Amino acid sequence: MPHIISGRLRQDTVTPEYSRRTFGQLAGLFSVGASFSSLVPSAHAQTPPSPTDSVFLDKNEYWTGPFPQAVQVAQQEILQGNRYDPGHVHEAFLKTVAVTERVPLDHALVWQGSMDPLIRSVASFASPQRGLVTVDPTFEVPWAVAKYLNIPVQRVPLTAEGRYATRARSLLTANPQAGLYYICSPNNPTGTPTPLDEIRWLLEHKPVDAVVLVDEAYIHFSENPSAFPLLKDRKDLLILRTFSKLFGMAGLRVGLSFAHPELHSRMMRYDGETATKLINVAALAGARESLLSPEKIRQRREDMASVRREVEAHLTKRRIAFVPGSVANMIMVDWGHPAKNVAAAFAKEGVIIGRNWPIWPNVSRITLGSREEMQVFFQQVDRLFPA
Ligand SMILES: Cc1ncc(COP(=O)(O)O)c(C=O)c1O
Repeated sequence: MPHIISGRLRQDTVTPEYSRRTFGQLAGLFSVGASFSSLVPSAHAQTPPSPTDSVFLDKNEYWTGPFPQAVQVAQQEILQGNRYDPGHVHEAFLKTVAVTERVPLDHALVWQGSMDPLIRSVASFASPQRGLVTVDPTFEVPWAVAKYLNIPVQRVPLTAEGRYATRARSLLTANPQAGLYYICSPNNPTGTPTPLDEIRWLLEHKPVDAVVLVDEAYIHFSENPSAFPLLKDRKDLLILRTFSKLFGMAGLRVGLSFAHPELHSRMMRYDGETATKLINVAALAGARESLLSPEKIRQRREDMASVRREVEAHLTKRRIAFVPGSVANMIMVDWGHPAKNVAAAFAKEGVIIGRNWPIWPNVSRITLGSREEMQVFFQQVDRLFPA
């Protein structure tokens, strides 16, 4: 744990001086295990259910593993696992990212998943004086880090009237002097995307020294444009990506951040060099191969869209409300009853659904699984909510 804070801590204009103790505590959040268990609440209070002995529609993972070709190249790297990086995979991976995503090479960094850069961006760009703004509901990790560091958080509710979309103007109104504006697009847990024009507007109207973070963990599932084109010449935009979702590599831990090098350097106070250099080369080789398979990416996107349509149709048929407009691998279902009780009833039958957010106590996040898994889900929906 202390390795995160080794070396001298640099200060910047936005972030105040935290005590060494606070930094020490923050360091614990960087470990992936701690991140998931302590930062993300669960719908299941007792022993966490296992994905292998249940229909597991929690955690927004993909229902199957990496692309087979990605597994093959990763295996080749494992065979040379006695060496650190004999094939210069780290470098090759980033060069591939720069080409496939059309971003300057010096704007891309690779991490063990996107949780680390997400946590450190809150610690680096927001502060007790310059708060954090997000919609509600959204991914809770930025809230948890802010709470830890006494950073004020403004949450702008997503509403039916606003079609559950993120509105840049309401984010800015909520705190015109924030240090960090977090936009998850498509949003976890609603799956709703934020139009590029909204992000552009926010970049143009926010305080010059505030940062906009666009978390694109679920972008591959959607046809919506990435915020990459907005990166050009900006030093106040950070974009996160991950291989944990469509690419089926959650446990293999590969994530990316994209930003101007000067913005990236402001995130490096806690051993950022180590966090971005020492990445498992087998995982990197698999991730690189995945990026080189646009046809397979398209296929997974279409498969997911087709499952999503079936789920929406089934819920509509049963007159169960859901948040419309998801373009990702999840859907928010409004049971009209406390979501915690509903999750427990599903779990009894071996179907593990996702958590709810305090703002919507009757609504559960359902991660979309395979067609077969969703059939089991439908059976339980029909049993628990008979027509
Ligand atoms: C919106 C969002 N960002 C970031 C993450 C972190 O993912 P990882 O660290 O696996 O890349 C998640 C995980 O569920 C997520 O939903």
